[in-house]
Amino acid sequence: MYRTHTCGALRNEHIDTAVTLSGWVQRSRDLGGMTFVDLRDRYGITQLVFNMETDAKLCETARKLGREFVIQIEGTVIERSSKNKNIPTGDIEIEVSKLSILNEAKTPPFTIEDETDGGDELRMQYRYLDLRRNPVQEKLRLRNKVSLETRKYLDGQDFMDVETPVLIKSTPEGARDFVVPSRMNPNEFYALPQSPQTFKQLLMVSGMDRYYQIVKCFRDEDLRADRQPEFTQIDCEMAFVEQEDVLQTFEGLIQHLFREVRGVELDAQFPRMTYAEAMEKYGSDKPDIRFGMEFNDLTEKAQGNGFVVFDSVDAVLAINAEGCAGYSRKQLDALTNWVKRPQIGARGLVYVKYNDDGTSKSSVDKFYSEEERKAWLDQCGAKPGDLLLLLCGELDKTRKQLNELRLHLGTELGLRDPKIFKPLWVLDFPLLEWDEESKRYHAMHHPFTSPKPEDFALIDTEPGKVRANAYDLAMNGVELGGGSIRIHDKALQSRMFDLLGFTKEEAEAQFGFLMNAFEYGAPPHGGLAFGLDRLVATMGGSESIRDYIAFPKNNSGRDTMIDAPAPIDAEQRKELGL
Ligand code: AMO
Repeated sequence: MYRTHTCGALRNEHIDTAVTLSGWVQRSRDLGGMTFVDLRDRYGITQLVFNMETDAKLCETARKLGREFVIQIEGTVIERSSKNKNIPTGDIEIEVSKLSILNEAKTPPFTIEDETDGGDELRMQYRYLDLRRNPVQEKLRLRNKVSLETRKYLDGQDFMDVETPVLIKSTPEGARDFVVPSRMNPNEFYALPQSPQTFKQLLMVSGMDRYYQIVKCFRDEDLRADRQPEFTQIDCEMAFVEQEDVLQTFEGLIQHLFREVRGVELDAQFPRMTYAEAMEKYGSDKPDIRFGMEFNDLTEKAQGNGFVVFDSVDAVLAINAEGCAGYSRKQLDALTNWVKRPQIGARGLVYVKYNDDGTSKSSVDKFYSEEERKAWLDQCGAKPGDLLLLLCGELDKTRKQLNELRLHLGTELGLRDPKIFKPLWVLDFPLLEWDEESKRYHAMHHPFTSPKPEDFALIDTEPGKVRANAYDLAMNGVELGGGSIRIHDKALQSRMFDLLGFTKEEAEAQFGFLMNAFEYGAPPHGGLAFGLDRLVATMGGSESIRDYIAFPKNNSGRDTMIDAPAPIDAEQRKELGL
């Protein structure tokens, strides 16, 4: 038997017990007469003592143990003279009577402790060593708990876990597909699913009623902190439901997860906001509502005073940074430079300081009187001591830029506490999005999303104004998930493909299977998918999903540990007809 207990199990009540432990040498300290070794496994750390007086030979062997050696020991649990209150096993230690080295280890390329000296790249290259570290294991434990509780909740609600294929034909979710050549069908390719969207809809036609799957999805898109080329969805679909049923069911899931996994009670009713309102107030379809700083439209008040910069644009928008009137010249310059960086792309930043004596000072005093500036401050609900920041330009662009500035300030001012969780349903997304480059409409969500019946009439005249039965769940500025009520009628689905610029033949070739299925009794249905990686990272208080994935890819989509992607040999290419 390799062990009677794990390295995290022993306590006071085990004193005088004979035990066998196995694990890794975290570190050893040689104090002349005694050698102490910290033995580590997934469950914790236990201190071992080797005594020169009782067994000199054993102590000599212990002295030679290197970091990360795998060892097995036998010994007796004794009370520690100097207790370590920081670890659960800190009251005891093991007086070792037998030591076996199970495997030696090379010196690891970085220290395997909570605080490591290893840089990002090195840790990814030796990810199996990085994964020995407690903070990293903690994140995977959190992920495991979230998946487990997800299954419990959904099982309790009659959802059935059904697997769907990974080698499929393209599903349009807005990204590029990863493709796989077929050896048996030369010059033909499978696509990896961007999501199981069409399959879960087919499962509804099959009468599965409530489906879920914790499933890998693949998207070839530009990577960011919250995007990986392969990621995991909690993917769900329900038959005979309206939007309200879906929202209630999954609000329940998220509340359950936070309660069971984090001990956090979320809002009993998640707040809701339309897409239009979210864009107007926050310039984002996933607003972080942990703090206010909503947008104010000063266009009307700001134009007509001869300030060409404001006069020549669509929109002048402002946010109120409360209590920031004391910002120095240097701080304001830094903010200006920040918004002018190419990633944000603003032309400049105008400020108005609301002084404590009720007067104001702005960077555009030449054009606006004290009274006019006061009118701006009033419209923004500012108090003495506050600071208005204004951006201007084309409406959509300015909203995006001001959103970035708002989030940046929120972070700078400590308003984005990672221990506070603010969910928000964003509803009524537009059905279509105009793409300037291809000069045609794209589905904002995906082509299977149903339009709102009350907007039907606009489909032929003003398609851009049609709203969809689509919803997203945002939390702390992150899009955790999204979904929609689907089209279940063949004629409407054909019309939708038509709007998206597919010819009849193209639609038939790509989605004939779905439209045919709709002719055999498709129930009304809808659903959604959460990004598991994003959900877990948000619960862990992080914006980066990489740490929550055992073997993630880097920003160029590479796995540096296994060195993928990699060329394939000529033989394999030939066989695949490439
Ligand atoms: P959507 O494309 O919005 O919807 O994806 C659902 C959720 O998946 C997560 N997500 C990602 N996470 C990490 N890396 C990525 N590259 C990535 N892309 C998406 C997000 C997102 O909210 N089939 C529909 C769902 C439905 O309509 O039911 C879909 O996939 O958290």
